[in-house]
Amino acid sequence: MKNYDNVVIFDHILIKHKIAILRDEKTSMKEFRELVEEITTLMTYECLKDGVPTVEVEVKTPLETCKQQIVKDNSIAIVPILRAGLGMVNGIHVLFPSARVGHIGMYRDEETFEPQSYYCKLPEGIENMLVLVVDPMLATGGSACDAIAELKKRGCKNIKFMAIIGAPEGVSRVAEAHPDVNIYVSTLDRCLNKNCYILPGLGDAGDRLFGTK
Ligand code: PRP
Ligand code: URA
Repeated sequence: MKNYDNVVIFDHILIKHKIAILRDEKTSMKEFRELVEEITTLMTYECLKDGVPTVEVEVKTPLETCKQQIVKDNSIAIVPILRAGLGMVNGIHVLFPSARVGHIGMYRDEETFEPQSYYCKLPEGIENMLVLVVDPMLATGGSACDAIAELKKRGCKNIKFMAIIGAPEGVSRVAEAHPDVNIYVSTLDRCLNKNCYILPGLGDAGDRLFGTK
């Protein structure tokens, strides 16, 4: 895959370790859910290194008063792409419990693999927030591209996209369609199979999170 200025691929052993367990077909639904949350929390630390709206406040320590930067209230929105993106929400909420949550519902057509949109409910004022779009799987990139386009249509200007596993095809597609959006992917896999599933991947993230198969 080409190098893109707006793409960060994580290469951290803590994340690699957790992804190895996540991929394993023997991993239980409970453990799968917990791992998705933990990986998301680790990714969020890096993802929020910059671009977060802050305010200066005065804090009185036992010794003196000092000026400190804190994250501005009402400035972060998490937008999971349903269903599987839901699994990542708590991983960010443990760091920012007051982050608002918007939902974008999409499923892939089984024949064309094109995303079909079925739901969109976003927090008021989202256009002024840092928007973290989350989905564990970035396969063809169709769902991520459409979700980001919808958010831009509604005025969002500060958008980051987080995926746990990406295929080179999907990462390139989103990076090129949305060069102003930073894309964070925990691990880059080899390719897509003929059904547009990621190889080696982890199977169907929604089914593994919610036990639907
Ligand atoms: C999965 C996944 C992404 C999408 C990725 O959702 O959670 O949203 O596929 O594929 P793409 O990059 O090729 O668009 P799916 O359509 O299986 O829906 P689900 O989460 O409801 O199971
Ligand atoms: N969606 C998934 O859940 N898994 C894949 O490998 C591709 C799309």
